[in-house]
Amino acid sequence: MGARPSGKNEGDTPTEKSTMSTTLEQIDLAAKAFWAQHPTDRDAAFAVLRRENPVPWSRAPESDLLPPELNTEGFWSLTKYEDIRYASRNPKIFSSAEGITMETFDPMMTEAAQSFIAMDAPRHTQLRGITLDAFKPKNMRRLEDWIRGHARDLVQEMAPKGEGDFVDMVSMHLPGRIFASFFGIPDHLYDKTISAAQRLLAWSDPEACGDQTGLEMFADCVIDLHSVAQELSEERRDNPGEDLFSWMLAAEWEGQKMTEDEICAFFVLLAVAANDTTRHSSAHAIRLFSENPDQLALLQEDMDGRIDGAIEEILRVASPLVHMRRTATEDVQIRDAQIKKGDKVVLWYCSGNRDEEVYEDPDRFDILRDPNRHVAFGGGGPHYCLGNALGRTTLKSLIREVYGTMPDIKAEEPDYQANNFINGIHRLQVRWTPPAAGTTAAAGTDETATCPVPHGDAAGGACPAPSN
Ligand code: HEM
Repeated sequence: MGARPSGKNEGDTPTEKSTMSTTLEQIDLAAKAFWAQHPTDRDAAFAVLRRENPVPWSRAPESDLLPPELNTEGFWSLTKYEDIRYASRNPKIFSSAEGITMETFDPMMTEAAQSFIAMDAPRHTQLRGITLDAFKPKNMRRLEDWIRGHARDLVQEMAPKGEGDFVDMVSMHLPGRIFASFFGIPDHLYDKTISAAQRLLAWSDPEACGDQTGLEMFADCVIDLHSVAQELSEERRDNPGEDLFSWMLAAEWEGQKMTEDEICAFFVLLAVAANDTTRHSSAHAIRLFSENPDQLALLQEDMDGRIDGAIEEILRVASPLVHMRRTATEDVQIRDAQIKKGDKVVLWYCSGNRDEEVYEDPDRFDILRDPNRHVAFGGGGPHYCLGNALGRTTLKSLIREVYGTMPDIKAEEPDYQANNFINGIHRLQVRWTPPAAGTTAAAGTDETATCPVPHGDAAGGACPAPSN
């Protein structure tokens, strides 16, 4: 097995970029302090790893999720693009069934919260299959105008203000409203659902946890989302609606429906996956264009021709989901690392997306970059992001609306989360010139209350749920 460096627990939690260069010995991916650094410093550390020790071993992560006597397992890290793709595409060797995070959760928590993302075939294939059709790119293309309507509504609400926190005004609500429409979440459950879905992945961030431990906060969010799922389940079993929740209840695989527990976990996974990733990606988009006015000018010069490339570059540079974990099912060698059966292996998308062997000048934000086959949605294989088309369409709609209405919007330095799983932004203060009254676009779609088109109406266009 490769060298297993001793841990370094101490460390500040700097919020500003460091001016010191990092050495291999200083890098400790298991330390909370590592994740409290400015993202630029973390990126610099991963560049050192890619160059000097691309498959390092780390001690057990500092974590509140397990009592210290149970938190004993270290982990391997894949920092190179090709290694991440290799592990992603070989699920027989790199299993998801033991959990998907660098930190280990109690198995009960994994079962209650992670559903099919923490499963292997065949159960993974069966459960993923239930909503697969709904999120296919062709459905998302049909939904583009409807999604853009949601983006427009939010931008019109913020436009007259001239300044504020972009996360609070827009980022958290855009995926929230879309998710609520897809799943038919009634108004009285909206805040509870979206707040839990958007906090759950921040178990390692002190601000998000407040006076709770990471585990307490995580468990509270899971309980809230389960209670929403139970309420919806009771209501929709008797009165199915035109929404994905009703579809989930009705779906069968070889004559079997999902159990109540499976439905709750499925709902948690979808709620979290759909909300938090897109939320932070949209804040990063505004941050990146504020830091790179030349790239914004390029985009504004030819919005239609450049928007798709810009979205891919935002996702590559920001890597909203920082890592996923697998567990080796057999002994396997990657580069110099002798990985043993049962070892945890972490795939660092944030690092693969800046691999110098794949990307020229990888730290540069370049919306014309081509090709740009990043691993922000995973490295391929069976777990590749189910919602990639929805994520892309949502970001695209938002960017068009924001820069169409407030072309001079500019962000200050964000307040980042200290988070090893999500590249999270707590707050993003922005300023812009409010458009003159009467010059803004008309309000968006009035189809925002429920999933717009009945099941089975393939030609109808807007409903994301497949026909029964
Ligand atoms: C920009 C936004 C998003 C990013 C960066 C992102 C990223 C990812 C990544 C990296 C994975 C893991 C891939 C792997 O393990 O190989 C994943 C899985 C997943 N994502 Fe996304 N995601 C985004 C948006 C969404 C949305 C909008 C949904 C809504 C449905 C979604 C649903 C899922 C689900 C259900 C999985 C698990 C798939 C499986 O295990 O089969 N994601 N996502």
